Amino acid sequence: MDDSSPQTIFLKDYTPSNFLIDTVSLDVNLHPTATRVHSRLEIRPNPDAATRSTALVLDGEDLELDEVRLDGRKLDDSDFTRTDSTLTIPGVPDGPFELEITTYCNPETNKALSGLYRSRNIFCTQCEAQGFRRITYFLDRPDVLAIYTTRLQADKEMAPVLLANGNLIESGKNSSSGTHFAVWEDPHPKPGYLFAMVGGNLVCVADTFTTLSGREVDLHIYVEPGEEDRCAWAMESLKRSMKWDEERFGREYDLDVFMIVAVSDFNMGAMENKGLNVFNDKLILARPETATDADYAAIEAVIAHEYFHNWTGNRVTCRDWFQLCLKEGLTVYRDQEFTSDLRSRAVERISDVRMLKTHQFPEDGGPLAHPVRPQSYIEINNFYTATVYEKGAELCRMIETMVGREGFRSAMDLYFVRHDGDAATVEDFISCIAEATQTDLDQFMTWYSQAGTPEVVASLSYNAKERIAELSLSQVTPATPGQVKKRPLHMPIKLGLLGPNGDDLPLRLENGDDIPDGLIHLRATEQTYRFTNVSSPPVPSLLRGFSAPVKLTVNLSETDLEFLMAKDSDLFNRWQAGQNYALRVLTSATAGFGNGEEPAPASSFIGALAATLRDETLEPAYRAEVLKLPSESDIAREIGQNINPDAIHSAREWLRAELSRALHRELEELYETNSVPGPYSPEAEDAGKRALRNAALALLAALGDESGINRVREHFDAAANMTDKITALGVLTHLEGSARETVFDDFYEQWKDDHLVIDKWFALQAISSLEDAPSRVVMLRKHPLFSLKAPNKVRALIGAFANMNPTGFNRADGAGYELVADVVLEIDKFNPQISARLLGTFKSWRMLEPERKAKAKSALEHISSNNNLSRDLFEIVTKTLD
Ligand code: BES
Ligand code: ZN
Repeated sequence: MDDSSPQTIFLKDYTPSNFLIDTVSLDVNLHPTATRVHSRLEIRPNPDAATRSTALVLDGEDLELDEVRLDGRKLDDSDFTRTDSTLTIPGVPDGPFELEITTYCNPETNKALSGLYRSRNIFCTQCEAQGFRRITYFLDRPDVLAIYTTRLQADKEMAPVLLANGNLIESGKNSSSGTHFAVWEDPHPKPGYLFAMVGGNLVCVADTFTTLSGREVDLHIYVEPGEEDRCAWAMESLKRSMKWDEERFGREYDLDVFMIVAVSDFNMGAMENKGLNVFNDKLILARPETATDADYAAIEAVIAHEYFHNWTGNRVTCRDWFQLCLKEGLTVYRDQEFTSDLRSRAVERISDVRMLKTHQFPEDGGPLAHPVRPQSYIEINNFYTATVYEKGAELCRMIETMVGREGFRSAMDLYFVRHDGDAATVEDFISCIAEATQTDLDQFMTWYSQAGTPEVVASLSYNAKERIAELSLSQVTPATPGQVKKRPLHMPIKLGLLGPNGDDLPLRLENGDDIPDGLIHLRATEQTYRFTNVSSPPVPSLLRGFSAPVKLTVNLSETDLEFLMAKDSDLFNRWQAGQNYALRVLTSATAGFGNGEEPAPASSFIGALAATLRDETLEPAYRAEVLKLPSESDIAREIGQNINPDAIHSAREWLRAELSRALHRELEELYETNSVPGPYSPEAEDAGKRALRNAALALLAALGDESGINRVREHFDAAANMTDKITALGVLTHLEGSARETVFDDFYEQWKDDHLVIDKWFALQAISSLEDAPSRVVMLRKHPLFSLKAPNKVRALIGAFANMNPTGFNRADGAGYELVADVVLEIDKFNPQISARLLGTFKSWRMLEPERKAKAKSALEHISSNNNLSRDLFEIVTKTLD
């Protein structure tokens, strides 16, 4: 470690900064290896500080210090002290003063991709969470808000485009030197993490948007020359996002220009810097031949997400990093709502819940469990997690469920009025909801501080004589690391009781209360509800729309599940019933395969599924979701312990083959009738048809027979868009034989010059369930187009292998664990954010059967025995092994 041992930061230790910075004037001379940054800061003591101090401690990392001036006077070396991460000036005035600092940094060698770095010769920055301190010495914390002016200067040929936050106020050439400059001014106070600057050879795709109040905003998307024809969808998505935030939340944009820059090397998906979003280029660039429907959907959602941060994150920012869910959870909720409004609400809910269960539930049930608002961290970058994001969004959704759509809107209005320009806390947000809607959220607050997925058990009994249906609910949250005692939570439970023909019965409690919206509030550990006037035994549909992020167990028969699959008025729960039914079949088949037994026939499940597929009133995208069996990790989670991934894989493949045989005719018909003629459109309707058609194709090939394979090859050859191509490759990657090799080789030849498409080629090989997948991945690591320095490449090959290839990653001989651990250690030397995130793939290792568990443990121990680990990786490996 650089420091003796990594420090833990606690929420309870928060204190306001001793100093505030009102204005920042940056003068930046971009140079590949020695960028000079001159910063002039207007600083004053913070009136709200707990203690008065004349020692100013600034954050700084990997900076070469040239000069410090205080109120114009150059300081001697003896006037300040420095460590690896700080610059301290012990005696500053106790009133306002001006500090000037000149430093140098090296963008070229910055492979951590935090601070100022170069991505294929483009200068760009990433400052969240703590990257601004790698550009200049600063009070790098989100509650220090300043107004920024940024003057950029660079060689004109090297960087013809110079961008920073805000509005452009001046630009020009410096006559003799071949350099030019641009001055940008951002009138909105912001924390350093929202700072951005960009310089490079970029082309601008331009459009405009007229706001609700009639202001015209320039929309500029900057990409590398040659990529201009891949920006149309991103631009369209941006305009939709701007319009939606006006209509749904009354939020307008607040600068003259909104800019997006696409770069190839980026640790995350995208970043909401004020007026100058920086995006991973895979989330901007799209043409039908290069991008799949899923890519298009992701572009739309991520552009929306980053745009929505302009209000939830930027205008109202976070007091400290423990409040991260205040901006991320809320903004994910907003982008989910955006997609629901633009596409299909039911399909969006299914995919959001699937995401939550796949990523957040295992996190909450494993060694890295933490509350939506953590109480401590070693490295904040490790807390951009599914819990903060996805569960954080679920908390917003539960609130909306309780206070209603309009109540939520009025609470948000109050939040923006009251906290515009503030660095706020979760309490501030919750107070606005409570006040605006007169709701008691005291018990609800526990959701923010308590980790773990609550387990709710429901049982329904029926008394024919009294015509009463009695529903008993109980809740318990299992212990998580460092948090053994749990309190009962306040959960909104949406429900319906289905009568004999599937209609929802009126809900009236014994005390005469009607429940017209089907919403009840579970607050106690156990609660009973007695519904009156029920003339026959009803089938309960509980947790409709997944109204609370919990694990629900209900005493339903297979007939009940089949009934819900066919009749539930809540489309989400109809889907859920199908998944639950499938999980029953699959867990028992897994147990069978583990003992070498033949699984029992699945004909009644298959029949129920077929009925849904035939229902033309259901949109294709929805039926495609129904046709997707629970994933191998869903099955593993359901089983919970002593996991043998091979048995799970066999069980799932068996059921796919059964479906393929039993529904052959139906699947063929779906394949035929859902072809989409005409030019490609990424919109939901066409994408939904392709999803259903491609799901049918994959199942038709599940027997691995010649006719199935031929159909897939024909599909590949006929495909006019990347969605269809990828579907074919996704089937063939699991099938041994020449078809696989030829098709992958052809694909490579066609796309080897396109860095984004080639990532798909890497990923599709990494997820192969064939025996040789680990050795193939090891081989591809050496491929000339692969690089550990490029996060997209790492995610495509190693990330896909660890996350999406359960049999390969968990191979019994430990080869999968070793290869990932190897890469983790290698990457940790230069990019700790990526190495730490990659090691997160080991989070469920304790669920494995003993042999694999031992192999995973030894790979983890191999990492932890290394004594040069980054803080990021140290935190993850230590907690994972604990
Ligand atoms: N603020 C984040 C980006 C970020 C995360 C920067 C962590 C630095 C460290 C951004 O708003 C974000 O959340 N991006 C997501 C995509 C989003 C749609 C959930 C991402 O990059 O994955
Ligand atoms: Zn975000």
